[in-house]
Amino acid sequence: MSKTVVVKIGGHLLYEIAQEKLQIRRIADYAEVFKHATGKKTSLIIVVGGGAPARTYIDAARNLGASEALCDQIGILATRLNAWLMIVALGEHAYPHVPSNLQELLNAISSGRVVVMGGLQPGQSTDAVAAIAAELSGARLMVKATDVDGIYTADPKTNPEAEKIEEASYEEILEVLWRGRIEAGKYALLDPVALRILERSRIPLRVIDGTNPQNLAKALAGQPIGTLVRPDREA
Ligand code: UTP
Repeated sequence: MSKTVVVKIGGHLLYEIAQEKLQIRRIADYAEVFKHATGKKTSLIIVVGGGAPARTYIDAARNLGASEALCDQIGILATRLNAWLMIVALGEHAYPHVPSNLQELLNAISSGRVVVMGGLQPGQSTDAVAAIAAELSGARLMVKATDVDGIYTADPKTNPEAEKIEEASYEEILEVLWRGRIEAGKYALLDPVALRILERSRIPLRVIDGTNPQNLAKALAGQPIGTLVRPDREA
């Protein structure tokens, strides 16, 4: 069985909008979890999102007349800044470079250290990057840490009737996301591109609440936490 697990950390978990500050304690706590999890049985690739700083810079660039591709490129730079904070927190456990293409990612993986990265190219999200990294590394699992404790039948922040899904196939989750988009117009918990990539390579995905770093430790230890999205059994 593959040793590799890819962890996506939502950018919103690294920057608290209400307090307008970086979550330094939380980044350090994530790093501790990763240090303990990595070893003989597990290799880690961590992909971090851009969060509020990325959106601030993207909005500013857009207002100044930047093309959408350039806005994305600026967003990617923000994700890489976040990746660097994680590398610093991991110290010698981390590969000391943020891969900016797949060749660099392969080189980083071969180091045997924890690989930390942000975005790759315009037109996608870091969810898609994590899915591609999972494919490339033959990962056994992708974990997505976000600020809700799994995938719901609707947006739990706005719909009190939303129910948590414990386990479902990729097809079922894509249908839920599509339905949510039509109703709410903005339920963007997961990038469908990432789901399609994981589906085609039959890599399971666990969506968990990353506001408590210990949840990541549980997911990496194989505990049934959050929502499990699995390839179809008969496929
Ligand atoms: P993300 O959208 O992936 O991070 O990247 P986020 O906003 O923090 O989302 P969560 O919370 O992690 O889910 C920030 C921006 O960087 C650009 C896009 O503009 C994106 O909105 N980006 C990121 C790319 O263009 N390509 C990438 O590969 C990654």
